[in-house]
Amino acid sequence: MAGMCQLLRCGDLIHVIRVVCQKCKKNRKYGVFFVFALTTGISFGYFMSTHRLSDERIMRNKEITHLLEMLPVLSTTEESCGEIFSNNTEAIKRARNTIINESIDLLAITNNCQEFKGRRGYVTETISSVEEDFPLAYSILMYKDPEQVERLLRAIYRPHNIHCIHVDASSEERTNAIMLAISNCLDNVFLASKPINVQWGSFSVVDAELLCMKQLLQRSRKWKYLINLTGQEFPLKTNLDIVRILKVMNGSNMVSASTQPLDVTRWRSHLPAPGNVSLHKGSTHALLTRAFVQYLLYNKTAKDFARWLRKTNFPDESLVPSLNHSPQLQVPGAYTGVPKTGVDGYRFIARFKIWYRACNGKLVRNVCVFGVGDLPKMPRSHHLFANKFYFNLEPMTLRCLEELHYNKTREDITGAGFSRLNMTFYNNLPNIKRHIPSGLETSDEGRTRKTS
Ligand SMILES: *[C@@H]1O[C@H](CO)[C@@H](O)[C@H](O)[C@H]1NC(C)=O
Ligand SMILES: *[C@@H]1O[C@H](CO)[C@@H](O)[C@H](O)[C@H]1NC(C)=O
Ligand SMILES: *[C@@H]1O[C@H](CO)[C@@H](O)[C@H](O)[C@H]1NC(C)=O
Ligand SMILES: *[C@@H]1O[C@H](CO)[C@@H](O)[C@H](O)[C@H]1NC(C)=O
Ligand SMILES: *[C@@H]1O[C@H](CO)[C@@H](O)[C@H](O)[C@H]1NC(C)=O
Ligand SMILES: *[C@@H]1O[C@H](CO)[C@@H](O)[C@H](O)[C@H]1NC(C)=O
Ligand SMILES: *[C@@H]1O[C@H](CO)[C@@H](O)[C@H](O)[C@H]1NC(C)=O
Ligand SMILES: *[C@@H]1O[C@H](CO)[C@@H](O)[C@H](O)[C@H]1NC(C)=O
Repeated sequence: MAGMCQLLRCGDLIHVIRVVCQKCKKNRKYGVFFVFALTTGISFGYFMSTHRLSDERIMRNKEITHLLEMLPVLSTTEESCGEIFSNNTEAIKRARNTIINESIDLLAITNNCQEFKGRRGYVTETISSVEEDFPLAYSILMYKDPEQVERLLRAIYRPHNIHCIHVDASSEERTNAIMLAISNCLDNVFLASKPINVQWGSFSVVDAELLCMKQLLQRSRKWKYLINLTGQEFPLKTNLDIVRILKVMNGSNMVSASTQPLDVTRWRSHLPAPGNVSLHKGSTHALLTRAFVQYLLYNKTAKDFARWLRKTNFPDESLVPSLNHSPQLQVPGAYTGVPKTGVDGYRFIARFKIWYRACNGKLVRNVCVFGVGDLPKMPRSHHLFANKFYFNLEPMTLRCLEELHYNKTREDITGAGFSRLNMTFYNNLPNIKRHIPSGLETSDEGRTRKTS
């Protein structure tokens, strides 16, 4: 009886074979037929399973090939960007003087939108469901160099994201015409209506931002985070990287601010500020949750504070940093820890930017405009975007960053991109735990369930 139980546990098949073998001792023909039937069955099963598998593989390979074909083909030069990124002094020296003769008549090629998207290499299809399920909104403030902005747009563009371009009211007619033509070719790219004449350092910067924010909210209910850029920036991470990092941020904003209001003269003569807001000065680069953007645009406390800031100097550096560091106001996504930008404190990942220090390009108003020699610092940086670039200053700088960017996008398509980032750094950002909820949080339970 015990032997029989064991047999059953080993599987019905062995049991059947036993029974049959007992029978074959009595009848040989019966046994031969059984062995024949068994081998045929197994072979057929094996054939079916491998056939189906390779069918799937062929489908997947076809899809990968098709997606890879979308990406831009960059003009080749003698310079090797790989060597430049690995800090080869000779390669860097050569690349500094390289002129790239690649004139694209954007007005002409946007006459045919299909051709424009194809020839320029826009990613018009979804690469991964991770990205599709986490749509982003972008605003780009610009006033010149439409060819440079188009290359930024090409790098960040995804069919499931939404992009607002604020072309300054004082821009040349040609700039406006090119950006309008581009936006007419891409459904989810639009120009801010009623653009503003932006004066840097005045409230008009904020007005332009608010304009894009409002129109982005109206046009899409889906996006989860807003990233605001200027036309002179470029991504250091692919869309997949950015989505994976923002998901880890757990519904918090990323805004830098200093602990001490360093420049009290900016607002001293107008104190007190309304609404019990704690005044802070910070960087103008931010990653903002949708709920924060809604608060900024429509909450009375935020609107009163913004109106008061109009009287002060550099309000664009005070508005978002102050609201994001006033936990008493319960602003969605706001930081509840001590605001401090530094190595061991709050880590600001929105921008790679060099102030005052060693710059291999050119310092303009104390900010480094990057040159080829700055490239080796970028691939290992934790930052999402780099600021800033001039189209005509050492053009190989942007050209090599583009090459790196599309190499990584290629990895995203084949699936290799998922293991590129060291997520440990991002998982330990202090704002992940210390913030006011904004509705995008993943419960700890949900997080383990998803990653398992
Ligand atoms: C750039 O290339 C075009 C032809 O493609 C040529 O006519 C022009 O002279 C070149 N310009 C420079 C600066 O080399
Ligand atoms: C104003 O904010 C401070 C923290 O900065 C808080 O201690 C205080 O209770 C707030 N006052 C009111 C009236 O909310
Ligand atoms: C990003 O948006 C904030 C909030 O409106 C604004 O203060 C800042 O100037 C913007 N930054 C850029 C680069 O436009
Ligand atoms: C606006 O913000 C204030 C301060 O954060 C908050 O007390 C109030 O409930 C908000 N109003 C609305 C309508 O959400
Ligand atoms: C590149 O090399 C230079 C000198 O050859 C060195 O000063 C610099 O730190 C290096 N940069 C990186 C990112 O390794
Ligand atoms: C991009 O990929 C190509 C082909 O694998 C390689 O030759 C090139 O060095 C890569 N460029 C960079 C910047 O990594
Ligand atoms: C990932 O980053 C953490 C800290 O940011 C570091 O300790 C760890 O060694 C890194 N892992 C790899 C594989 O580079
Ligand atoms: C995400 O934020 C929520 C609410 O602020 C918090 O309860 C949760 O622990 C956070 N998740 C992680 C992984 O820190």
